[in-house]
Order: sequence, then C-alpha cells, then structure tokens
Amino acid sequence: MNPVNAVRPTTAEERDARTARNGGAPTLEFGRKVPYDAYVHASTLHTLQRTLSGDPGEMSFLVVSQIMELYFKLIRHELEQARDHVRADQMWEALAPLKRAALHLEGLNAAWQTLRWMTPADFNKFRDLLGEGSGFQSAMYRQVEFLLGLRTKSLMRPHKGTAAYDELEAALHQPSLWDEVIALLARHGYDLKPELLDRDVADEHEAEQSVSDAWVRVYRDTSPENHLRLLGEALTEVADRFGDWRYLHLKAVQRTMGAKSGSGGSSGLAFLQRSMSRPVFPELWTSRTEM
Ligand code: HEM
Repeated sequence: MNPVNAVRPTTAEERDARTARNGGAPTLEFGRKVPYDAYVHASTLHTLQRTLSGDPGEMSFLVVSQIMELYFKLIRHELEQARDHVRADQMWEALAPLKRAALHLEGLNAAWQTLRWMTPADFNKFRDLLGEGSGFQSAMYRQVEFLLGLRTKSLMRPHKGTAAYDELEAALHQPSLWDEVIALLARHGYDLKPELLDRDVADEHEAEQSVSDAWVRVYRDTSPENHLRLLGEALTEVADRFGDWRYLHLKAVQRTMGAKSGSGGSSGLAFLQRSMSRPVFPELWTSRTEM
C-alpha cells in the first residue's frame, strides 16, 4: 500500500486519550491525508460521475448504475465466501455470507426507488447519448450469475479482449455455488445422478430429479441441528431476492421505455422475460411441489 494513503491504526487507549485532549469534540486537523478519504477513497469515487447530457435527471441514472455495480461486486464477494465454505463442508459458516448476500440484495433492490420518477419522456432526454451502452454489458453482473449457476457463455462475448473476459473465463471453469451444494448433498449420502458430479461446470446446470428428491428429504427434518435445511433456506432467500432484482429491473424498463428495442441491441422486454425464466437453484423450487 502507498504509505501516503495508508490508514494509521489506533488503539482504544489512543482514541480515549485523543477524546480527552479534544474535550469531547471531533478532531478537525490532520497532519496527513484525511483518514476517512485514505480508507474510503471518496475523493476518487466522486470523480466518476461523468454525465453525458445537461439533463439534471441523468445524474440519478448514472449514480444508481454505479451503486448497483458496487452491490454486484459485494454480492459476488459473499457468494464466493459461501461457495468456499460449502466446498469445505462448513455449512454453518456458509450461512453468514449467504445472510449478508440476501441483505445486500435488499439494499440493491431499494436503489430502484431512485429511478421511479423517470417517464419515457424523461429517459428520452438523454437516452440517445448512451449509444449502445447497456447494463447487459455489466461483467460484474455476469460474475454474480456465474456463481449462482446461470452460465450462458455467449454473454461473455461483449468483454472479449479485456481483463473482465479473462476473469469471467476463470469463473466459468470453477464450480458455481450450486455445483458445490450438489457435491455437498452427495457427500452427505444423498443418492444423486452420478453424471451430476462429473460434468463440465462451464455448462449451465439443468434441474435434475434426484437433486429435487434430495431436498424433499432434507426438508423433512425440521430440527435446528439440520444444517442442510438451514442452508437450503438461506439459498432460497438469495434466489428469491435476486428474483426481486430481475422483476424490479423489468418494471423499470417497462415504465421508462415500454416495449421499445434495448440500447444493447436486444428486443428489450421480451429478451429480459426470457432471461428471467432461467431459474436460480432450480431444485430448491421444484422440490417444494413434493414437500
Ligand atoms: C430505467 C432504466 C433502465 C432501462 C430502461 C434498462 C433497460 C435494459 C434493457 C432493454 C436491457 C436488455 C438488453 C438491451 O439493452 O438490449 C437491459 C439489460 C440489463 N440491464 Fe438494464 N435498464 C435500466 C437500468 C439498469 C440499471 C440501473 C442497471 C444496473 C447496473 C441495469 C442492469 C442491467 C443488466 C445486468 C442487464 C442484463 C440482464 C440479463 O441479462 O438478464 N439496468 N436493461
């Protein structure tokens, strides 16, 4: 880390001594960089809101997009933690990052409210200036999808030749969180179709009856010691909140551009409806019919 930007750690004793010297008021002068900025990099962050039009409404569209990008990154981080715990048979430990991911998804979803003012006329004021730019080209969103097990390889293509493509390629060849959950069920003695455990993880997993049957059995034991059931519910929460994002996005699109063509070249609403029909953790849903 650059020593100029380094955050100097303090101890509880140092904080108390400082408070006593300050007479209870906050510190107002620093010899070096303002410590908040050294950590948060707010001054860098605030250089990134480069709107294209003079329209006052565009700022909220850009800032919400950036906020959502940061949430995608945070959610990917949590899902990676959860996947690694599941891989290591640490079901209890996997619950905390899954809980955090579900809460971050709620925060992400709340951000849609910032765009509820936007009519088609409002969007049209700056839409042309976005050119072919579309959230569809978000590499971080694809990272989240890949971890959840949604693996449409062609959606990596916009990133060809960039570092983001290499990162997506690497993620594609690692098991998704759902792949690891299926492997965990097998390690716990559930009788699964053998091909599931020896498949090319770069291909999207399709709902499989033996996995669905396993979840029916898992859910029969409602005791708090049944960590697999707790894991199933934590995963259901993540899938459900992710579904909320997809739905709220669809509503925002419908509200601001109806069924017009998308900036990214797709049919817009019809494309998004198709995309949404790919289920997250499919057997956690199919099994519910048999419970
Ligand atoms: C009201 C504002 C918005 C409109 C009208 C809109 C419109 C669209 C459309 C039409 C698509 C389909 C691809 C295409 O462009 O042809 C799309 C995809 C997408 N948009 Fe938006 N979008 C909006 C806001 C956002 C925001 C704020 C984000 C957050 C970064 C976002 C992220 C995405 C993602 C990730 C996809 C791909 C979804 C998938 O593959 O299932 N969108 N958007």
